[in-house]
Amino acid sequence: MILDNISIINFKNIGNEQLTLSAGINCFVGDNGAGKTNILDAIHYLAMARSMHTISDAQSLRHGEESFIIDGRFSRDDARPEQVVCAYTKRGGKTLKRNGKEYDKLSDHIGGIPIVVVSPADTALISDSAEERRRYLNRFISQTDRTYLAALIRYNAALQERNKLLKTSPSEEMLLIYDTMLAASADVIYNRRKEMIARMQPLVEHYYALLSEERETIGLVYRSELETTPLTELLLAARQRDFVNEHTTCGVHRDDMILSIGDYPLRKFGSQGQQKSYLVALKLAEYTILAEKSGERPILLLDDLFDKLDMRRVAQLLKLVGSEDFGQIFITDCNKHRLERTLGEAGAEYQLFNIAQGCATTL
Ligand SMILES: Nc1ncnc2c1ncn2[C@@H]1O[C@H](COP(=O)(O)OP(=O)(O)OP(=O)(O)O)[C@@H](O)[C@H]1O
Ligand SMILES: [Mg+2]
Repeated sequence: MILDNISIINFKNIGNEQLTLSAGINCFVGDNGAGKTNILDAIHYLAMARSMHTISDAQSLRHGEESFIIDGRFSRDDARPEQVVCAYTKRGGKTLKRNGKEYDKLSDHIGGIPIVVVSPADTALISDSAEERRRYLNRFISQTDRTYLAALIRYNAALQERNKLLKTSPSEEMLLIYDTMLAASADVIYNRRKEMIARMQPLVEHYYALLSEERETIGLVYRSELETTPLTELLLAARQRDFVNEHTTCGVHRDDMILSIGDYPLRKFGSQGQQKSYLVALKLAEYTILAEKSGERPILLLDDLFDKLDMRRVAQLLKLVGSEDFGQIFITDCNKHRLERTLGEAGAEYQLFNIAQGCATTL
């Protein structure tokens, strides 16, 4: 998938910008606060209908303005054109159109424009609670798997209802109905997560070895209570505890991914650069799987390329993503010379844009 042109109006600090992009590597360079990440975020809006940060649409609207509009012209890998327009107004909210037709549900768009993001904010995946890792996994699997997304929506709705019910004095029958609903969706979620992590694990190992030039080894394991016991049994056994806590204390909403380096927890024993390398390897694994499943090379956003990585690892990364297996790439960095030098060493072709105060100039 190639984004050929993008037009951005009133999105964060970008007033009005039109860019013609390269099908290979696009680099945005400029000072802190210039608007480099904002351009990547506008691209993210076109693919995922929301910001890559956990912020609301209203926060993405340029201060003092009434609406933003992002218009992207894409070419699929088989050369078919695609147009995606994402608009937001203070009064009317957000709309998304693909080839001129508005979606009834924004979630129907997910997966149509495959995308993978590597950002400094990813560290939350390692340092934060399991919820962050589940959110990551959910977004990733949902991009290629409608059944998973549907099961997830059903599971969350049933969970919310069951939790509400636990605060009252429900009948056994009533609880049993929700237990059965939860178990049915949990089954789909558990199996798909298990399959996905089994597929990811060797890829993450492979990419980590490339990035670190085989200095360290890593591990990735799925952990779920459902591994040993079906959810209906777990729910029945936890019923009294659930009443006391007034919420559901077991299920796939408690799953986790265990990340390790040299057999020790990555969060406690990995250096900052090792943690970052792990995250990059994870995202590259995601890229490979998305490409396989969608038959389309995803768009890759590398925000703040040098964040915590040494020159060698960045060069390894650029060498890798410059290869045939990868498609269009967007890179940001605040140091033009460092970026150009490293790209030159990796022998990669690229297009450079200078960003200042939300405006881009081609270099
Ligand atoms: N809703 C908004 N309206 C106007 N300006 C905004 C809005 N949201 C963010 N900004 C501005 O956007 C700028 C940040 O842009 P961005 O995060 O893209 O910078 P950057 O070039 O990636 O910088 P860095 O090198 O520090 O990562 C800030 O100056 C911020 O004030
Ligand atoms: Mg930035």
